[in-house]
Amino acid sequence: MNAVMTETAEALSVSSASLIYNGEVEALRNVSISVCDGEFVSIVGPSGCGKSSLLKLVLGLEETTYGEIRVAGNTVHGPHRDVGAVFQAPTLLPWRTVRDNVLLPADIQRLGRKTVEARADQLLRMVGLAGFEGRYSYELSGGMQQRVSIVRALIHDPRLLLMDEPFAALDAMTREQMASELQRIWMESGKTVVFITHSIAEAVLLSDRIVVMSARPGRVVATFENPAPRPRRFADVAHAEMAELSVAIRQSLDDACAA
Ligand SMILES: Nc1ncnc2c1ncn2[C@@H]1O[C@H](COP(=O)(O)OP(=O)(O)OP(=O)(O)O)[C@@H](O)[C@H]1O
Ligand SMILES: [Mg+2]
Repeated sequence: MNAVMTETAEALSVSSASLIYNGEVEALRNVSISVCDGEFVSIVGPSGCGKSSLLKLVLGLEETTYGEIRVAGNTVHGPHRDVGAVFQAPTLLPWRTVRDNVLLPADIQRLGRKTVEARADQLLRMVGLAGFEGRYSYELSGGMQQRVSIVRALIHDPRLLLMDEPFAALDAMTREQMASELQRIWMESGKTVVFITHSIAEAVLLSDRIVVMSARPGRVVATFENPAPRPRRFADVAHAEMAELSVAIRQSLDDACAA
């Protein structure tokens, strides 16, 4: 039998990226992060350290002042289709049904409705929203609305899913449920995810790797691997290796804030 060596492709490469807004505010300094296909990577760091700015660079909404961003091997110059994004607020259009909200990016990108409709229904099933396709956002809970926005971000089958504090607006219990749900969705979909959070427990539960950033100008100060087997439960995060990992991340964050 032949042993075939397959190299995992790089979904995201941030190489020595710096961002200075208006020649004045230095948001990011010399940031390098590499994310392989299928990986789940979290970014934690003090408020204002440039986490959302980094996602804006990856989305192509801002241009690096120095350095380069590549998604799926292509240098980012402006908005592109290789990414899907989920933000803190689900921002659903109230006059569109769940299905039509999910199909919005497909309509904008003029993807054939036939194929994407089938995909929309399959993704809505995956996030537990089968039967809600014809409902409006006011008929959904906060957690359900955020599930819709996850499906909307995945509808064009992007190479990379970017999530910027997606559960921050939810109550504590729903937030934990959504994080566990996201782990399942990630395991089922095989998507590459870059996830920003202020919750160390969330980062540890979900991630293969956790990147810690310093206070502004944001730099990468530490990277932690989390090899714990999956699926993981929040109860596991309080035990043994994952508890030690959480303490190490906390220490690194405290050092970053104090520096
Ligand atoms: N469009 C902009 N123009 C000028 N400065 C900006 C702009 N966007 C962000 N900044 C500044 O860049 C810095 C980083 O902001 P950013 O939103 O990336 O931080 P963050 O790490 O996401 O913070 P938080 O955890 O609070 O969401 C801040 O000092 C912010 O004021
Ligand atoms: Mg932010």
